[in-house]
Amino acid sequence: MSEQTGGIDNVMQETRLFPPSEEFASAASIGSLEAYQQLYDQAKADPVAFWGELGQQELHWFEPFNEILQWDEPYAKWFVGGKTNVSYNCLDAHLDTERRDKLAIIWEGEPGDKRTLTYAQLHSEVCRFANALKSVGVGEGDVVSVYMPMVPELAIAMLACARIGAIHSVIFGGFSAESIADRNNDASAKVVLTADGGWRRGKVLELKKTVDEALEKSPTVESVIVLKRTENAVEMVEGRDYWWHDLLDNVDDDCPAKPLDSEAPLFILYTSGSTGKPKGIKHTTAGYNLYAKKTFEWVFDHRDDDIYWCTADCGWITGHSYIVYGPLSAGATALMYEGAPNFPEEDRFWDLVEKHQVTILYTAPTAIRAFIKWGDHHVEKHDLSSLRLLGTVGEGINPEAWIWYHEKIGSERCPIVDTWWQTETGGIMMSPLPGAIATKPGSCTKPLPGIIPAIVDESGAPVGQNQGGWLVMTHPWPGMLRGIWGDDERFKDQYWSAVPGNYLAGDNARCDEDGYYWIMGRIDDVINVSGHRLSTIEVESALVSHPSVAEAAAVGRKDDLKGQAIAVFVTVVGAEPTEELKQELKQHVRNEIGALAQPDDVRFTNALPKTRSGKIMRRLLKDIAEGTESVGDTSTLEDYSVLAQLRAQDE
Ligand code: PRX
Repeated sequence: MSEQTGGIDNVMQETRLFPPSEEFASAASIGSLEAYQQLYDQAKADPVAFWGELGQQELHWFEPFNEILQWDEPYAKWFVGGKTNVSYNCLDAHLDTERRDKLAIIWEGEPGDKRTLTYAQLHSEVCRFANALKSVGVGEGDVVSVYMPMVPELAIAMLACARIGAIHSVIFGGFSAESIADRNNDASAKVVLTADGGWRRGKVLELKKTVDEALEKSPTVESVIVLKRTENAVEMVEGRDYWWHDLLDNVDDDCPAKPLDSEAPLFILYTSGSTGKPKGIKHTTAGYNLYAKKTFEWVFDHRDDDIYWCTADCGWITGHSYIVYGPLSAGATALMYEGAPNFPEEDRFWDLVEKHQVTILYTAPTAIRAFIKWGDHHVEKHDLSSLRLLGTVGEGINPEAWIWYHEKIGSERCPIVDTWWQTETGGIMMSPLPGAIATKPGSCTKPLPGIIPAIVDESGAPVGQNQGGWLVMTHPWPGMLRGIWGDDERFKDQYWSAVPGNYLAGDNARCDEDGYYWIMGRIDDVINVSGHRLSTIEVESALVSHPSVAEAAAVGRKDDLKGQAIAVFVTVVGAEPTEELKQELKQHVRNEIGALAQPDDVRFTNALPKTRSGKIMRRLLKDIAEGTESVGDTSTLEDYSVLAQLRAQDE
């Protein structure tokens, strides 16, 4: 059963191995394990030189850098003394190449409206909007909050900020006025970009109205620029609010990219801590740009004829790095979709894949589990043969969901890249290179070249093979966060104090006999049953392997005898939530993992509480399992009614 270790017990027994097909591998830019290993070893021998060489090759330098890395732990400066511009690297760099008239963005709105932009057209739009920003007084170092629907103007706005050295802070369109005000104030935002509305499940999300409310408590904001998207009535405040199109009327499309210091801040992105106020993760110019570009090329094995679709929202780091900055720096064609996956029907994603002949699809496990629940017939209506590569991000993917994705979406043909990374890491850290590394369902496999992870115990000592422990990074990398906006103490304390000299990711993981990494969940979520430390994802994966379970969350609740007992929350598919099923699920986990992991409580629920980015909020579930009222930050909760439902059915 379980392998008892000093750290966290490893109870997951997943032995299936999926090597890339010969066809895929032979066409891939890194097409064998040996090729990966060679690159990895070369980078590991001298990571600074490795990144230095790539930095030199991959970015445009207005002025060359004179030092690759200045490392004064925990403060990193990459490509010191150099001057570049992210917007230049994403746009201008392609204009004298064949990519000039290649599509950069293919966009579809939720109602079905479409737009395309070539690199030349996108360049021109970005220049015009950069001039519009200047016309309301935005300059280098000013913070611009962006609260917009997923329309091309959102990417245009980000690139326009980057072009003139303004710092964007994109706020996901589902956040409340309170959350916007908090973020405006924390960053001293000068301008807010928004729209009259955005489409979501056939309804208008009234973005401008929410911004108006936020601005009652955002004293630093001087102007608001409003895009017309949904044509609903909005109030415009004279002298403060401007229509996007009016500003564009008065500008031209000449706006050279400003040479910016390598370490000039590019953006702030707020991410919720498990408690308390949101953290503004700071990323800067050159290192982030290089990292987003190279990781995009490696992980997605990008080719010029790919149609790449990342289904994330630009309000998350995935949208920053793998809709905008990575793909555009690499000269890719990216599909962008505005709305919900189940509008007008549950087959919308598959309709988009078929219509736009998508070749690479990058989505989240939470979406995959929803597709499974909605039923295979939605998938089977569509021809998905254009797909050649699939990816996941955001949380661990349970092996059963992985297999469904592999069979139903990938027709057992497409490799799956399970990418592990964080807002803080700027880009993907561990993932299969699809032509080189055989995949194991549930494992993010191996670190990317230039990334040197370790798994350690609480004293910082490395743990052995297959032993769970803290995942740390032992060497700086170019995409790493440069701090928490305005909170150095929290930055040092949270990431750099637990294991001196190492970046603490906050996740538990283990590394198996083949050097494959398995993420075991957040450190705070470990369940301790009678001294055995179990990871949430392993219990959840055991549950999801039962045919009646669509989704599951496991938490530890206090227990006088065992320290903690396991409580699980389960959504069922194709079955009634009966007492018999409860008993069956308890037994199922016992069979899959062992008696130790048998849940004491099983609760059925129609939905699990999730953050707006789709992560299960186990902290809230723990409070419910223990019968205590929840405290702390619930501002990221997607659907409040879920909590009420769960509380109502105490065992
Ligand atoms: O716990 C890990 C989980 O998501 C966390 C990072 O969340 P965020 O900053 O919102 O970024 C999400 C998009 C990169 C991680 O600490 N996580 C992310 N990807 C995976 C994952 N857990 C397991 N497997 C993954 N592939």
